Amino acid sequence: MRTALKSFASDNNAPVHKAVFRAMMEANQGDAIGYGDDIHTLEAEQKIKELFGKDVRVYFMLTGTGANVAALSHITRPYHAIICSDKAHLENDECGAPEKMTGCKLHQVPSVDGKIRVEQLQPFLKSKGFQHHSQPKVISITQATEMGTVYHPEEVRAIARFAHEHDLYVHMDGARIANAAASLDASLVEMTRFSGVDVLSFGATKNGAMAAEAVVFFNRELAKDFEYTRKQSMQLMSKMRYVSSQFYAMHSGNLWLENAKHANAMAHMLAEKIKDIPSVKITQKVETNAVFAIIPPEAIEKLQRRYFFYTWDAAKSEVRWMTSYDTTEKDIEQFVTAIREAVEQP
Ligand SMILES: Cc1ncc(COP(=O)(O)O)c(C=O)c1O
Repeated sequence: MRTALKSFASDNNAPVHKAVFRAMMEANQGDAIGYGDDIHTLEAEQKIKELFGKDVRVYFMLTGTGANVAALSHITRPYHAIICSDKAHLENDECGAPEKMTGCKLHQVPSVDGKIRVEQLQPFLKSKGFQHHSQPKVISITQATEMGTVYHPEEVRAIARFAHEHDLYVHMDGARIANAAASLDASLVEMTRFSGVDVLSFGATKNGAMAAEAVVFFNRELAKDFEYTRKQSMQLMSKMRYVSSQFYAMHSGNLWLENAKHANAMAHMLAEKIKDIPSVKITQKVETNAVFAIIPPEAIEKLQRRYFFYTWDAAKSEVRWMTSYDTTEKDIEQFVTAIREAVEQP
């Protein structure tokens, strides 16, 4: 959709943060060896190692789907199954790439808020050891979830304990891990490595970068030969410095956290200002930068003439509004006024 309308559709619609562009411009000096053997990539890798520990393995990628699919295909065989929430991006929004590229079945755990509960997992193991069925091998969780909720580190730990007891790995889709960290006030390492995650799709794009994702292996044995999987997955960027310098910009200081805190604060502000409007019903806990709400169907149409956002579930007349690092308080004030007008005027 081509639009000049202000977007509350997705943090994907926000512009690239100035500091990210600046870092890319700074990296844009002279020649640099391609495919990651350059100083910018080395420096960005070091920054990520400062976050997670110097022994982790870091591979820069171009897209979140690419990171998920490459990571999962590397740690599975085609006869495996990947357990994920029925709301998972893997399941709904990757055009079947996980199934195509891994050959695995996706087993969906029913969920209202996007989260998997450890108590739900046992039945998904019933096919283990039965040669006619796909063999569960990975539990993939999304942090923050597609519904804007977050897993507390102890919830991740419980899932990881269960996974490892049953010879399964834990993959975390961290496309919005920054928003989750800001919400939980927890460190990235506590939420991932210290909670038992084996491999992370580490996102920066949704938080102000242009196209910067990484696969980070905490379980180093699993990382073996991943460079070949990345290449076969068409995620090895020749001019790597332009990807890695984006990560450097985000993680050389606190930009990643400031951006995520701001995006979350704007969603909270929006929720706070609309929560008492009688015909608006917020449907999910607002924990990061998304607000889900049911509003009258005719109000959706009216509002969409002025703002760009998605109807999440047309049958329920539920919408998703997302904020980003560049959403301003004024944007929220104006949007709230528009929501009131749309729902209150017949
Ligand atoms: C939770 C989650 N994971 C992965 C992705 C995939 O990212 P990309 O669009 O860069 O492939 C998205 C994109 O919106 C997402 O929301």
